[in-house]
Amino acid sequence: MDIGEIKKEILSKSNLKELDAAHKKYLGKNGSLNVELKALKDLPPDERKAKAPELQRLKREIDAAVVERAGYLKRKEIESSLESEIIDITAPGVKIEMGHIHPLTKVQDRMNEIFTSLGFEIVEGPEVETEWYNFDALNIPEDHPARDMWDTFWLAPENRESETKNQNLLLRTHTSPVQIRYMETHHSPLRIITSGRVFRHEASDASHDIQFHQLEGLMVDKNITVANFKAVIGEFLKGLFAGKVQTRLRPAYFPFVEPGFEVMMSCANCDAKGCPVCSKTGWLEVMGAGMVHPNVFKAVGYDVNEVQGFAFGIGIDRIAMMKYKIDDIRLFYGGDLKFLRQF
Ligand code: PHE
Repeated sequence: MDIGEIKKEILSKSNLKELDAAHKKYLGKNGSLNVELKALKDLPPDERKAKAPELQRLKREIDAAVVERAGYLKRKEIESSLESEIIDITAPGVKIEMGHIHPLTKVQDRMNEIFTSLGFEIVEGPEVETEWYNFDALNIPEDHPARDMWDTFWLAPENRESETKNQNLLLRTHTSPVQIRYMETHHSPLRIITSGRVFRHEASDASHDIQFHQLEGLMVDKNITVANFKAVIGEFLKGLFAGKVQTRLRPAYFPFVEPGFEVMMSCANCDAKGCPVCSKTGWLEVMGAGMVHPNVFKAVGYDVNEVQGFAFGIGIDRIAMMKYKIDDIRLFYGGDLKFLRQF
C-alpha cells in the first residue's frame, strides 16, 4: 500500500459521500487495510511485531487525511451556501398594501358614537341563537304565523338537555334576542345598543341579501314613553345625516312591541323632493320600533307594572346605502376592491 497514492486519492474526492466511500474502501468493515489489521492476531508474534507498527501508521495517516479533507469539503459547502443566501440590503422593499375600514363598519362606528354620546351602553350577542331567544321570548310562539315575517336559517337539531326552553339552533334573524339576553342578567333602568350581522333565508336582490347588519336599541325605566323614543331617534338621525333629516312614525306590527311603528325619514338623497332611492315619495323606512310588549318583560322576569320602555332595530346597510348613495346591497359583501377603495 502506497500511502502517497492513497492520500492523493483522498484529496481528489470532491464531496463527503465520495470521501466516505474512499474511507470505507480502506478502513470499513471489509476495507483492505482493516482486513490486514484484523489478520495480525493470527500471525506468529515476531511477524506481528514487525508488521503491526507499519499498519497502525498507515491507519493513522489515512484517518488524518480523511478528517482533513472532510473539514475542507464542509467549509466549502458552507461558503457556497452563504454566497447564495446573501441579502442585498440596498434592494428596494416589497410594499405592504394598507387596508382600511369597510363602509359598513364605518357607519356602524359612527352610530355607536352617537348613541354612546346619548348615554347608551354597547353590548354584544351571538350570531348563532336558540329558538327561544330569537322567537319565543320575543312573544313569537312556535305556532304563531308572525314567525313567517323572518325567513330563518335553521341549524341541524341537536339533543339538548334543557326541556324548559326552546333550544333549537338558528342563525339570528334580527338583533332583538340581545334585548332578552341583556335583561335576563340586568335590572332596569337600562339603555343599551347592540349591532351585528343577521341572516334571512330569502332571495337576494339589490335591496335584500341573505345577510345584513342591524343596530338594536333598548331603553327601559319607570316612565319611558314614545316621546322619549322620538327625541332619541331624531337626535340620532340628525347626527348621522348632519341635521338635514326629518322623521315621522307610522303604525306597524312587530310581536315584541305594542304599539309598534316604522320610522320614516325624509330622503337625504333628494331632500324629500322625490327620487329613485325613495321611490319618488320623499320618505324612506329605516327602522322598526315600538314600546316593549309586556310579554317580553314577563319572559325576562321584570315586573310589568314597574317598568316600560322602547326598542328599535335599524338596518345598517340601508343607512349606509343612503349615506354613500350605493344602489345595491350586495356590493357590501362582494369583496370587490374597486368598490371598497372608494370609501
Ligand atoms: N327586530 C325587528 C326586525 O328585525 C326590528 C324591530 C326591533 C322592531 C325592535 C321593533 C323593535 O324586523
